[in-house]
Amino acid sequence: MLISFKRDESELARLAEQIGARWGSVSDAAQHGDVIVVSVPWPAVEEIAAQVQIGDKVLVDTTNQFAGGGVTSIPGGRSAAEYNARRFSTGKLVKAFNTYTSAFQAVGDGRVSEPVAMFLGGEDREAKAVVEGLVRDAGFEPIDLGGWSTIFLMEAPRRTGSVYGESYSPDAARRIASAAATDLNEAARLAQALKQPD
Ligand SMILES: NC(=O)c1ccc[n+]([C@@H]2O[C@H](COP(=O)([O-])OP(=O)(O)OC[C@H]3O[C@@H](n4cnc5c(N)ncnc54)[C@H](OP(=O)(O)O)[C@@H]3O)[C@@H](O)[C@H]2O)c1
Repeated sequence: MLISFKRDESELARLAEQIGARWGSVSDAAQHGDVIVVSVPWPAVEEIAAQVQIGDKVLVDTTNQFAGGGVTSIPGGRSAAEYNARRFSTGKLVKAFNTYTSAFQAVGDGRVSEPVAMFLGGEDREAKAVVEGLVRDAGFEPIDLGGWSTIFLMEAPRRTGSVYGESYSPDAARRIASAAATDLNEAARLAQALKQPD
């Protein structure tokens, strides 16, 4: 693993050492490995996109457009994921790891007493299969919520009828994803009805 993008390089180096990774520039990170993860505040996405050539690699997008000086609407009424896929000029963007807080995700690794679903979405099946493996490695059950026409259900902000910020059992999440493929109103109803209590 190679990590990048922190204002203080000594902190970046310390973090890399802590997790047994290397560190480098954004383009070093983009050239390293088969999967690139972009996980920066929304206002910084543009700067990263300008420095990165995705090529044939899988791009995991964890970003949420609302937090940290972000925006409340996406140009063209697109989903944030589709907007980012265009910015990075890739069809291999998979949105994942964005619906739960980092604190919640940190206890996913075998320490959650019940299996918990994690939604992901994107247009490329092979890329999604790769990210499903990463989601499992993180201790969650991956649930494919579809592509650009349904992915907004897992995007910020937290609101009635969306799965963003809510947790679900794998069975409940499968029902929501299956409904989303044909009936968005039913998916929204299930998202509200099946969410686990706070
Ligand atoms: N935190 C969560 O619970 C959570 C959960 C799901 C999704 N997300 C989404 O995931 C993305 C990352 O969230 P986060 O909480 O990890 O963000 P973050 O800690 O604020 O920033 C992530 C990284 O970006 C770097 N960075 C930010 N602005 C920079 C700049 N102008 N120049 C250079 N480096 C910069 C930070 O370095 P510095 O240390 O120098 O700031 C840090 O290494 C966001 O889009 C967020 O909405 C967050």
